Amino acid sequence: MTLISKIDENNINKDEIKKQAKILRAGDTVIFPTETVYGLGANALDENAVSKIYEAKGRPSDNPLIVHIYDKNQVHKLAKDISDKANLVMDNFWPGPITIILNKKDIIPDRTSGGLSTVAIRMPSNAIARELLRETDLPIAAPSANISGRPSPTRAKHVYEEMNNRVEGIILGGDCTFGLESTVLDMTGDIPTILRPGSITKEDLEGIIGTVNIDPALERQEDNIKAKAPGMKYTHYSPNAEVFIVSGDEEKVFQKVNDLIDNNSKQGLKSAVLCIDKNKDKYKGDTIVLGQNLEEVASNLFDALISTDKEKYDIVYSEEFSNGGLGRAIMNRLLKSAGYKIIKV
Ligand code: TXA
Ligand code: MG
Repeated sequence: MTLISKIDENNINKDEIKKQAKILRAGDTVIFPTETVYGLGANALDENAVSKIYEAKGRPSDNPLIVHIYDKNQVHKLAKDISDKANLVMDNFWPGPITIILNKKDIIPDRTSGGLSTVAIRMPSNAIARELLRETDLPIAAPSANISGRPSPTRAKHVYEEMNNRVEGIILGGDCTFGLESTVLDMTGDIPTILRPGSITKEDLEGIIGTVNIDPALERQEDNIKAKAPGMKYTHYSPNAEVFIVSGDEEKVFQKVNDLIDNNSKQGLKSAVLCIDKNKDKYKGDTIVLGQNLEEVASNLFDALISTDKEKYDIVYSEEFSNGGLGRAIMNRLLKSAGYKIIKV
């Protein structure tokens, strides 16, 4: 049985936190909210506990985990060769939605670092996460609390519906503010490199530490693929529906999507469109509004994708977002969710 604690971030019930912290200290798993997405945590220093994370998610065990801390000083116990730039990033953006990769100390087990000589560390700002980490007094490894391949959970109901009885404890703590996973910044080389874009952008970082590179693997966009590519589907952030991004001139996008919706319904297929608020009346079929600006889109994206399962949509079309600032993080998740399928008009 999973111990469920419903906790209000603005009025934290410390008794409930204590119960959940006890589970973590005993080497078991607890799901908790963060400002990015819900995390599935276990003691980062205990290989056995960390194994339970992989089991609960059905995740391949070579994918390294992020270690969560509540106090900057903990970094020195976990990592070494901490540069001035790394200190600047921590001072300016922690607690908050950025993870830094540093050379690890021996205390970090291979199971946590996926066998790498480096470790990913993050200090979350969500008050429930901070209180849990403080009470547990251990570094907590936590990937996003979804079954491997599914969109990351950003609402209490997502974890309850998907993960109940897969873990020992769940803290239901409301909505995640940012809604996309943290920026992952590799700080082991001379020039820091973004390995995963997030709410703290390349532009934000460059204002503090100068040049920041973007992992070239992120820029690879197989944008010539127009048709469905069976078997080539990336299973990441995937709802049950098949997702496509529709790219081009606004008016042409509306036209194309409406034609596709017509065609689909003739074949008995149910379609939905993910769009920004101002376009919601341009489409013939069902629309799911992502928000009015990029911050809202980021915060609602995974919820929108997950909600398409309930309505049993077969096909989901999404509008495209520009690939700079926060748009880069949004497009990164959308492209994966769509298996890089883009319809160009
Ligand atoms: O916002 C977040 O970061 C959330 C919340 C729960 O904190 N966590 C999260 O964890 O997204 P996960 O496991 O879903 O994603 C961790 C990412 C993966 O892409 C992983 O490959 C990368 O960080 N990563 C972890 N350790 C690494 C390392 N030592 N070197 C390179 N990449 C690493
Ligand atoms: Mg994840």
